[in-house]
Amino acid sequence: MKSPDTRLLGRIREQVRAEKPYLVPGARRVPHKLNQNESPYDLPLALKKELLEAFLDIPFNRYPDEQPTELVQALSQHTGHPAGGILVGNGSNELTHTLGLCFVRDGEPVVVPRPMFALFESVIRLFGGRVVPVAPLPSLAFDTDSLVTAIQAEKPDLTIVASPNNPTGLAMSAADILRLANASDGFLVVDEAYHEFNPQPSAQHLLETHPNVIILRTLSKAFGLAGLRIGYLMAHPDVVTDMLKARLPFMVDRLTDITGQTLLGHADLIRERVAAISASIRELTGALQQMDGVDVRPTDTNFVLFKCQSDPGALLENLADDGVLVRNMGGYPELRGYLRVNAGTPSENSAFLTALTRHL
Ligand SMILES: Cc1ncc(COP(=O)(O)O)c(C=O)c1O
Repeated sequence: MKSPDTRLLGRIREQVRAEKPYLVPGARRVPHKLNQNESPYDLPLALKKELLEAFLDIPFNRYPDEQPTELVQALSQHTGHPAGGILVGNGSNELTHTLGLCFVRDGEPVVVPRPMFALFESVIRLFGGRVVPVAPLPSLAFDTDSLVTAIQAEKPDLTIVASPNNPTGLAMSAADILRLANASDGFLVVDEAYHEFNPQPSAQHLLETHPNVIILRTLSKAFGLAGLRIGYLMAHPDVVTDMLKARLPFMVDRLTDITGQTLLGHADLIRERVAAISASIRELTGALQQMDGVDVRPTDTNFVLFKCQSDPGALLENLADDGVLVRNMGGYPELRGYLRVNAGTPSENSAFLTALTRHL
């Protein structure tokens, strides 16, 4: 195959060429996968079989709805937010791209605290925006005072926070999110990918009083649907009406659509699983706190940061050799030395703790 020369490759936008592709490092196949904050629980077999039966009635040759109207209705019922104010995407990551299309202007500021889910800064750069980073407090929590100062100084069209945040696991208080919403003339996106695990209430109530607030959610975590890709955002219906103009049609396929609707009809199952995962992270964090030489951070979600004396890269490899995959967070300058582990089933937690004890 003839290779493209550098002049040809130079025609690809420089913002794109400057990025790194999103690849999860060290994606080894191991029995206990605790590195992507997923739910340890797959859908029950009976429910999967029910879905497979339903798939038989789906015409695979027909396009799905441009936007998944019935799934939007089901999400409206689930959240209590009007259907006109809901957008569904192919995972919340894909909606983040829409945020870039809608709100990021060439050379204009976007305020983001650090350390935060790296995709946000990548999308801002890809759309030509200027990242205005705000350093965390020593506790690694977002520095609300400095965020307010940055918002007042830069007057950005967009500010993004994640609560609870990945990678720190820490949630913002309702009062702090309110301060940001009040300080912003532009939009404030609150990514609530992990809100079901958060002991603090969602920021959803702000949608009633603050038309500049957008809440981003996913079915990848508490709902255990990372493999099928459903994310949604909630905003004022007038905002969604404009955002729809930037949406590609058919981003939610028929199989995903029906799976999402079915799962939203099983609120008890989700509640049970959230309770099990919340108990699991408490047990895991408690066990880590008991271990000598392990520094454990507090968490408001289904994963936790920890640090040991040993080199994190070597420890990660040793744990993987014992069948347990965790994540090295050293790519975030504020988190050098930290590893992240998510809550697993009781047996996964115990495999992790046994392996960690062996390799400390
Ligand atoms: C803070 C945060 N937002 C969004 C996502 C991605 O969610 P989705 O699977 O819906 O794209 C993640 C996944 O790890 C996350 O940690």
